[in-house]
Amino acid sequence: EENQMWGGRFSQGPAEIMEAINASIDIDKRLWREDIAGSKAHAAMLAAAGIISDEDARAILNGLDQIAGEIESGAFKFSRALEDIHMNIEARLKEIIGEPAGRLHTARSRNDQVATDFRLWCRRACDEAETALKTLMRALAVQAETHADAVMPGFTHLQTAQPVTFGHHLLAYVEMFSRDAGRFADARKRMNECPLGAAALAGTPFPIDRKTTANALGFDRPCANSLDAVSSRDFALELLSAAAITAMHLSRLAEEIVLWTSPQFGFASLSDAFSTGSSIMPQKRNPDAAELVRAKTGRIYGSLNSLLSVMKALPLAYAKDLQEDKAATFEAVDALALATAAMTGMIGDISINRDAMKDAAARGYSTATDLADWLVRELKTPFRDAHHITGRIVAIAESKSVRLDQLKLGDMQAVEKRITENVFSVLSVEASVASRKAYGGTAPENVKREASRWLAALTKE
Ligand code: ARG
Repeated sequence: EENQMWGGRFSQGPAEIMEAINASIDIDKRLWREDIAGSKAHAAMLAAAGIISDEDARAILNGLDQIAGEIESGAFKFSRALEDIHMNIEARLKEIIGEPAGRLHTARSRNDQVATDFRLWCRRACDEAETALKTLMRALAVQAETHADAVMPGFTHLQTAQPVTFGHHLLAYVEMFSRDAGRFADARKRMNECPLGAAALAGTPFPIDRKTTANALGFDRPCANSLDAVSSRDFALELLSAAAITAMHLSRLAEEIVLWTSPQFGFASLSDAFSTGSSIMPQKRNPDAAELVRAKTGRIYGSLNSLLSVMKALPLAYAKDLQEDKAATFEAVDALALATAAMTGMIGDISINRDAMKDAAARGYSTATDLADWLVRELKTPFRDAHHITGRIVAIAESKSVRLDQLKLGDMQAVEKRITENVFSVLSVEASVASRKAYGGTAPENVKREASRWLAALTKE
């Protein structure tokens, strides 16, 4: 049967497989709210500009409201033959209001329509990602404040390096997630221009008012170039880039949760609410949520790559390739929302074993740098020499299987005779973290101050 939209030129319907590859309704039905909002703004503007009658506009607006109700309630029948959300809604509008429905598409094309809908959707996704990240940051800052003085080993190369505090470690992630939130906010700012009225690609001869529709939809301004308006998707790529970087950060924290909760580390545990058991090994408590957060990152990277590849070398202006933008974006945004929420849940849930952390921090000669710094400060030894002397002292401790703070003064004096009893004041892990008071360092007083600064900033909003 002939197509409702372009039946004039066509005498046959599409092949079954043509319909199958062409239809996007299963995916883009998620744009229904944005599509109706865009159409309402467009219809109101058309009437204000005298392009359609007020009466037609009223019928269109009422019809669209009714459709919104139908979709909301689940009564709406989506049809694959009608290809996408735009034509599904327009066809239903025609059923409801008849002839005036045909005037809605004046001075518009699906090309500017879908670009507008998708920008609105991505804009909301940016806002939601930002909000979710702030919730996660708050959860991290709460734990950081509680554990501002909990000593744990800081690692480089995953080898014990210097003691840090658990609070400091968590606040490192707060910094990362705050930049991620900033990337979503930046992307949002740049994408907030309205394609509507660019029509198919060249603009329209009708005297439309693009500023009015842009305003009505909360955009800062209309897109200045009609070709760019219908064919660019860098706004979605920026959203996906921000999502990919955020997911990368989530995956690092997820990985650390996996490590910390392993019996080998024993630094932390998740409650039953965030653990899973094994169907065969009764002793197991697995951190599945953390592993899945780690894994979702792969899918989110995949989406970014997928859309970059769709866009590569695509000549201007619209091509149907652009329809593939949505599946990738929706998948990534869904995965990120889930991963962020799961991480927030885990951070609220996690409890730490302070003794195990502190014990691990004291192993691995983690205060060797403090000893070298003491030599520099107290004996005016050049740092390179202090490093060498300390290395020899560590070797002695190692041969005696004791920690640095368990070594006898005489053993140290055998390497540098001017070392005094006072050196022991810097060899404990508590002394080590407490001494790192310079801005940005791990001293508990810094961590407390930073955690409360974050909490104040995050609750002010
Ligand atoms: N479903 C289409 C998309 O998502 C809408 C635009 C169709 N435009 C066209 N010229 N066929 O891109």
